[in-house]
Amino acid sequence: MIGEEKKAIAIDGPSGAGKSTLARALAKELGFRYVDTGAIYRTVGYYAYRKGTDPGDAAAVTALLPEIRLEIRYDGEGLQHMLLNGADVTREIRLPEISMYASRVSAIPAVRDFLMETQRQLARRHSVIMDGRDIGTVVLPDADVKIFLSASPEDRAMRRFLELQQRGTPQDYGQLLSEIKERDYNDSHRAAAPLRPAEGAIVLDTTGNTFAQSFQLLIKTIKENL
Ligand code: DC
Repeated sequence: MIGEEKKAIAIDGPSGAGKSTLARALAKELGFRYVDTGAIYRTVGYYAYRKGTDPGDAAAVTALLPEIRLEIRYDGEGLQHMLLNGADVTREIRLPEISMYASRVSAIPAVRDFLMETQRQLARRHSVIMDGRDIGTVVLPDADVKIFLSASPEDRAMRRFLELQQRGTPQDYGQLLSEIKERDYNDSHRAAAPLRPAEGAIVLDTTGNTFAQSFQLLIKTIKENL
């Protein structure tokens, strides 16, 4: 509606803290649009993967950017779909090998600049709950509520383990744990927009919580602060 004030909730935190599942449910409860910014980085990572480009080679990845046309669509269920040069790649970007590609390309400043306006535009057009690594610090520093969601690496690896098992694509727990630690390190030690709690962020730890417990904690925190 014209003139209607848009609200923004930023949820940042490391991989596997439950950000996306929680943010999706919170968006439904609040009537906001859920924006998964990790999916946007994954789409760029996926393109580098498909092109056989080394995701750590900043110049080579930067050279790919003009070839990339990204679109974000929402289906009737409010689920976010990623389109890469017209093709729906929503499923492909979830392949385990794409996680590391996304983490590597997201450390490249040119990639972050390339995706900035897409993210901000979504927040101008809709009330959003946006999850990522730098939403409260860089993308939406004026967000109405900023949350930094974390949990122990072991807890996050176990959630991922159970999720993959349920999906019928099991993976070794030890390997998942070391990948989570490696991605944590990459995401929080890069020079460009490293993962850290934003100023004014409410830091919540979900270690040992069930989904319902974390959901209640978040909805209460958001309603108190909106
Ligand atoms: O949330 P995810 O695991 O789908 O994100 C994939 C990678 O993208 C993650 O390793 C870090 C990066 N990312 C980022 O740098 N900034 C964001 N706002 C979201 C994700």
